[in-house]
Amino acid sequence: MKKVLSVASEAVPLIKTGGLADVVGALPAALAGQGWQMRVLIPACRGVLAQLGKVKQVWTDPDLFGGPARVVLGKCGGVEVMALDAPHLYDRAGGPYSGPDGDFWDNAERFAALSWAAAAIARDGAGGWQPDVLHAHDWQAALAPAYLRYWGVQIPTVLTIHNMAFQGRVGATKMAALRLPPDWFHRDGYEYWSDISTLKAGLTVAYAITTVSPRYADELMRAEFGLGLEGVIQARAGAVHGILNGIDMAVWNPAQDPEIIPFSAGKMAGKAKNRKALMDEFHLDVPGPLAVLVSRLTPQKGIDLLPSSLEDFIAAGGGLAILGSGDPWAEGMVQGLAARYPGRVGVKIGYDEGLSHRMFAGGDAVLVPSRFEPCGLTQLYGLRYGCVPVVSAVGGLADTVIGATPATEAAGAATGVVFHPVDDLALRQALRKLTSLYADRKGWAALVRRGMKTDWGWDASAARYAALYESLL
Ligand code: ADP
Ligand code: GLC
Repeated sequence: MKKVLSVASEAVPLIKTGGLADVVGALPAALAGQGWQMRVLIPACRGVLAQLGKVKQVWTDPDLFGGPARVVLGKCGGVEVMALDAPHLYDRAGGPYSGPDGDFWDNAERFAALSWAAAAIARDGAGGWQPDVLHAHDWQAALAPAYLRYWGVQIPTVLTIHNMAFQGRVGATKMAALRLPPDWFHRDGYEYWSDISTLKAGLTVAYAITTVSPRYADELMRAEFGLGLEGVIQARAGAVHGILNGIDMAVWNPAQDPEIIPFSAGKMAGKAKNRKALMDEFHLDVPGPLAVLVSRLTPQKGIDLLPSSLEDFIAAGGGLAILGSGDPWAEGMVQGLAARYPGRVGVKIGYDEGLSHRMFAGGDAVLVPSRFEPCGLTQLYGLRYGCVPVVSAVGGLADTVIGATPATEAAGAATGVVFHPVDDLALRQALRKLTSLYADRKGWAALVRRGMKTDWGWDASAARYAALYESLL
C-alpha cells in the first residue's frame, strides 16, 4: 500500500471543534479502500494520549520549539493516529486553540511545531514508516509543505483549505520563532501584507491545493471569498481541485443510530416519534415545520439574520430548535429569541454530539444560512435524516442541495430550499417557501424521501483524493 501522512489540528473522536475533525477522522478508512494507508498526525492535546491506549514511540526531538517532544503511534476508532506529545505546547486545559483565558498566546508556535514534526517525518520517516505523500489541512498544518520546500526536500504535498477565513496571520517578528527562512519573506513566499501567513506559505508551495467543495474552489478566486488570498489562488489555479466532503455513513445512519428511534426512507414512523421527543426536550409545541440549527455561533454561519427573519415563520406555525456555542453576542442573541418566542424557539448552548443526532432525527428542516460555507456537513446530515435543508447558495451548500423551484419540483429533483443573496429578506422568503412545501403533505414526503436516498458517503471523494495523490508521485 502507498502511504500518506495527514496532518491536522483536529480529528474525531479525539479532538473536535468543527467539520475539519469529521473529515480528517473519516478519510483514512475511505482511502484504505483506494489502496492508500493514511496515518493522521495531531497534537497530543490534554486527554488525547489517555484515549489512545497502548502506544509505541516512533519519533523524538529534544527541542521542538522550546521543549522535548515525541510522536507516539496508537489507534483510535480504527484510525492509525500519530500523536505529537509535546507537553510544553499541548498539555493545557481547554480546547485545541484556547483555554479559560482565551486564545493561547503561542498558537503560531504550537502549530508551526506540528507542521515541523510532520515535515521531518515526511523527510526521515518515523519508526520505519515514511509517507509517499504529505496531506496538510488548513493554516495549522500549512507550514508542513512550506518547510519541506524550504529544506529542498521533494515529497509531494497536498494542502486542503477547509476555511479561508483562518489564515494563520502573525507579525513578522515571529519569523525566527517559527523557524522561517528570511529569504522566503516575499510576496511569492509566506509574506502577507508585511506579516506572516502560514496558510499563504503552504498555498504558494504545495504541489496541489484542494478545497472541500468545487464551488468553493471557484469562489476563492474572488475577493469576496478569497479574503485577501484570492490572488494566490488565481496564480495557482491549475493546481486547485474541488473535492466534496463526504459523511460517515455508519455514524450518521438513521436506521441504526443509538441516539434516536430508528427510521428509514421506507419506514418513516420513527421520524414522527423523534419529532415529538425533540419538542419535549426543547419544551416546544410547533404545529408547522420544526426547523433545527446545529452550529458554531459565529458570523460565518449567518445566524445574525435570524432575529429579523423569524416573525412570519413563527406566525405561520413554524418553530426552531437551536444547538450551538460560540461568540458571546450570538449566544445571547439566540437566547433572546427563545425568550421572544416561548414554546416556538428553544435554545441549548453548548456542544452535544448526541443531541445533534436527535435534532436531525426530530427536525423537519435544518437551517444553514451561512455567508460562506466551504462544504458544510449539517445539511448532509439533515438530508440523510429526513430533515430538509434550507441553505444559502454558497460553497458546498450550493453544491449539495437542489433548491425547490417550479422547474426542479416539476422534474422531481428538489431536495431543499436554496436562497440568495444571504440577507434577511431572502431568508424570510426561504422560510415562507419551507412553510408552503410543508403544507403539501404528499409533496413533502416525496421531498424528504428524495434527500434520504442520496448517497453522501466518502467513496467517490476518496477516489478523487487517491487519483490526485497518484498524479503527484
Ligand atoms: P464548521 O466546520 O464550519 O463548523 P461543518 O458543517 O462542516 O461546519 O461542521 C460542523 C460539525 O460540528 C458538524 O459535525 C456539526 O454537527 C457539529 N456541531 C457544530 N456545533 C455543534 C454543537 N453545538 N453540538 C454538537 N455538534 C455540533
Ligand atoms: C470548515 C468549513 C466547513 C467544512 C469543514 C470540513 O470548518 O467551515 O464548511 O465542512 O471545514 O471541511
